[in-house]
Amino acid sequence: MTISVVRQEAIALVTVERPERLNALDTPTLRALLEVFHKLANDTSVRVLLLTGAGDRAFIAGADISEMAKKSPAEALAFAHLGHRVCQAIEDAPQPVIAVVNGYALGGGCEIALACDIRLASDRAVFGQPEVTLGIPPGWGGTQRLPRVVPPGIARELLYTGRRILAEEALRIGLVNAVYPAAELMDRAFELARQIAANAPLAVQLAKSATCFGTKHGLEAGLAYERQCFAFAFTTEDQREGMHAFLEKRQPHFRGQ
Ligand code: CAA
Repeated sequence: MTISVVRQEAIALVTVERPERLNALDTPTLRALLEVFHKLANDTSVRVLLLTGAGDRAFIAGADISEMAKKSPAEALAFAHLGHRVCQAIEDAPQPVIAVVNGYALGGGCEIALACDIRLASDRAVFGQPEVTLGIPPGWGGTQRLPRVVPPGIARELLYTGRRILAEEALRIGLVNAVYPAAELMDRAFELARQIAANAPLAVQLAKSATCFGTKHGLEAGLAYERQCFAFAFTTEDQREGMHAFLEKRQPHFRGQ
């Protein structure tokens, strides 16, 4: 298995397991990742997803170059399409997805991290879009998502130079939310996941859905969609529980209904 899933209560930890290739993604691994994300999207008992790479060297060192080197243009198009479907499955997952970047996140690895809601990095993480140094542009969303996450001029510099950046610089430009010592990273990621998982799951999903909708369709459409999400939340038990718990000065018990 090139992808493993481990459950800890409402949190699912998804790990890319190709450490001997620094977790580079070939077609079978991409397909396995897609299947896992589709399955988890339909699992209402999962409230938060963590995505990481096996070993202590890499999150994902990009698309598998030994596979790509042999591709025809038509095969490259299909490979880009598959990568886009994986990134879209991550972005469209109803649950928040946290990238736990424990090492190299290069090319397709950086693009997968960009499709996640939140990126946490270890102090050993290295980011970059080195595709241009291989004679290609990014093909799994880097040209679109990087300038939406970091300032556009910085994104363009990284996309055109292929320069690698360390965790500290990634933090400074807003590519990651936080940087932790490598030994602490996973504990901190679970801590954040537990904090999110303690909230009303449907409310968190609606917040994600509205945020993504507005990013895709613009402010006016996003605000209209947000109003509908807000009103929909008032059909849920969790809305009544959350507000009554506040008024009764007790902790809420959310059931995701
Ligand atoms: N594809 C295939 N194999 C890879 C790989 C990749 N992206 N990244 C690393 N590996 C393999 C290496 O070939 C090596 O295999 P062997 O032991 O069989 O030689 C093994 O993983 C360990 O890597 P290194 O020996 O190279 O380790 P290092 O510490 O010297 O260097 C590194 C680490 C800087 C990450 C280097 O491996 C590297 O530059 N990797 C490629 C990174 C890259 O360019 N990624 C972008 C790919 S293009 C892309 O992703 C396109 C897209 O937009 C979808």
